[in-house]
Amino acid sequence: MNLIVTTIHKPTPAAEEYARALASRLGAPLVARERRSLAALRAAYGADTVLVAAKDGPVVHTPDGAYFFHLSMAELRINNLKDGKPDHMIAAMGLAPGMSVLDCTLGLATDAIVASFAAGEEGRVVGLESSPLIAAVTGYGLAAFASGRPDVDAALRRVAVVNADYNGHLATLPAASFDIVFFDPMFRTPVMASSSLQPLRQLADPRPVGPAAIAAARLVARRRVVMKEARGSGEFARLGFATIVGGKYSSVHYGVMETGC
Ligand SMILES: C[S@@+](CC[C@H](N)C(=O)[O-])C[C@H]1O[C@@H](n2cnc3c(N)ncnc32)[C@H](O)[C@@H]1O
Repeated sequence: MNLIVTTIHKPTPAAEEYARALASRLGAPLVARERRSLAALRAAYGADTVLVAAKDGPVVHTPDGAYFFHLSMAELRINNLKDGKPDHMIAAMGLAPGMSVLDCTLGLATDAIVASFAAGEEGRVVGLESSPLIAAVTGYGLAAFASGRPDVDAALRRVAVVNADYNGHLATLPAASFDIVFFDPMFRTPVMASSSLQPLRQLADPRPVGPAAIAAARLVARRRVVMKEARGSGEFARLGFATIVGGKYSSVHYGVMETGC
């Protein structure tokens, strides 16, 4: 990927400063907008991806569309939880208020936000994301996105983002330091050709989960290691998940490994 960072047209000094900080954090060139279109910037700098420090947060323009923070299904899933309806991920985790979750594959943080809501004020959710771009976009959204709903916004603010590869990071964590360790890797076979997910695919780390990561996760998880995958995926057996749960008609399922109490 060839990335440049720029601002919206007529940026405020704060937006310029934010763009500068993003460029430095991502090690990408900062380019003055100078009334140029994104196409003109791409051509001038030989860039395929342009990160625009926009008024409502960073927007990453990939060849497959724009990637920016949004709640995706998180709000609907939170509404369902509030209505007493089950959420398959929360059930697979056995997540209850006050528990802690390490989400090894944060992405857009939809799952982490739902986990944060379920874990509540006394709980703790930390999300690892290896892509610096995704970590920046998601980190901004979790810190600043305003949904207009205090309960949803509070769940966002409680998710801590760490720009790290779980393969190295898990080994740095103390044994039994989280109740649940969760993986939602990029599916080996995408479940649906969703256009809104295309830009994420461009930016995301596509590597499969390895047995060493599962072994490391088992040491960190006090209660369970949970992995989300496509229904019927061979990844469950390859990684040793004997228990698989999920909705009868759902296209995704959850592998569950009990690790302790
Ligand atoms: C399918 S997405 C996760 C979606 C997320 N559960 C959500 O609700 O938005 C997988 C994410 O994990 C990240 N990822 C893949 N391998 C990783 C690794 N080794 N360490 C940290 N993050 C990783 C990818 O970059 C991608 O953003």
